Amino acid sequence: MIRLTRPYFTDAESAAVAEVLASGMLIQGARVAKFEELTASYLTALASPPLDGAVHAIAVATGTHALELSVATIPRGGLRDGASAGDEVLVPTVTWPSPGHAVALAGATPVLVDVDEDTWCVDPSAAAPMVTKRTVAAIAIDQFGVPADVPALRAVVGPVDLLEDAACALGSTLHGVPCGLLGDTGIYSYHPRKVITTGEGGMVLTRDAVRAAKLRALRNHGQSTPGTFVCAGPNARLSEMHAAIGVVQMAKLGDILARRRAMADEIRAAVPLKWQRAPAGAVVNHQTLGFVLPQPATGSLRDARDTLVTALRDAGVEASILSYALHRLPQFQQYAVNRGRSFPVADRVVDGGVAVPLHPGMSPSDVAAVIDALRAHASWAFAR
Ligand SMILES: Cc1ncc(COP(=O)(O)O)c(C=O)c1O
Repeated sequence: MIRLTRPYFTDAESAAVAEVLASGMLIQGARVAKFEELTASYLTALASPPLDGAVHAIAVATGTHALELSVATIPRGGLRDGASAGDEVLVPTVTWPSPGHAVALAGATPVLVDVDEDTWCVDPSAAAPMVTKRTVAAIAIDQFGVPADVPALRAVVGPVDLLEDAACALGSTLHGVPCGLLGDTGIYSYHPRKVITTGEGGMVLTRDAVRAAKLRALRNHGQSTPGTFVCAGPNARLSEMHAAIGVVQMAKLGDILARRRAMADEIRAAVPLKWQRAPAGAVVNHQTLGFVLPQPATGSLRDARDTLVTALRDAGVEASILSYALHRLPQFQQYAVNRGRSFPVADRVVDGGVAVPLHPGMSPSDVAAVIDALRAHASWAFAR
């Protein structure tokens, strides 16, 4: 089976972990600092034109923790940071649920917003009518590495905090600005399906030194320095084993991105499906390669999608559904603001969406097999 995704490891990752184990220093230390430094310097070099000011990269245990810490540091005019009961945060409805969960767990209301037909990222025109005086933040998700149009979202939501969920978007840019730095905070995930992986892991990015200091304290039991407690905080630290893998993976990032881009270009050029598109001015890393099926002549879109996923798997190509519709999940329907509204684009993307294998370890014959399987089983959907 050609796997949907696979980590891209060599002996270097095992050696780096063995070195940590031998050192006996297992929790947040020199490797975490190095991983953060490499991330900040990579983003600084990637930006064109150059950034004004420093990038702060704060490593945490998962991308989900990164979101929770970002929500907990939404600036509130010096009274109290973070979103809480009575506050609203806009969240795109097509996603792995973590961004919505981060808002709900803070006690605030996740207000769901439909996505764009082509990019599957938040649709700013759908966000505009949902802004109220209770809105304290908006989350943009760089769907599968495609940059969300954060400047357009910012224009409609006004001066609220903008959180960019760039879990999948390390290496992508919009108008020369690296994903992760488009909002007031940004986050990455290093889950095994992401562009680089540490097993579990995440990063918060910000250009605001004051917020960075709060985030650093918050991830570490609320300590500004060891033994100095400045706030209540979870233990969201990344371990040295995970960070050591991240340091090795960062050295491979250029090669990983080049391989992903070349394979994605080859498959998309060979098979005329409705692939995900990127906004003007975007450079995309291709974390996930996916398309949306058209409405079939007979039967439901969902059934057509499931039939195709099964046929591709039977042909040795591990396809899968694309994502989830938060407006269908009970934990989001409990908010009155999300009931009785329709999300037609999200429904089409979620019911008709298919992801196909794309990872740097795929061989030319794997790529050819993905193309052949799509030609054999999805031709009814070509150029429709
Ligand atoms: C868009 C998005 N945000 C957040 C997360 C959560 O990241 P993690 O698995 O590292 O907690 C994921 C997926 O894993 C994701 O796809």
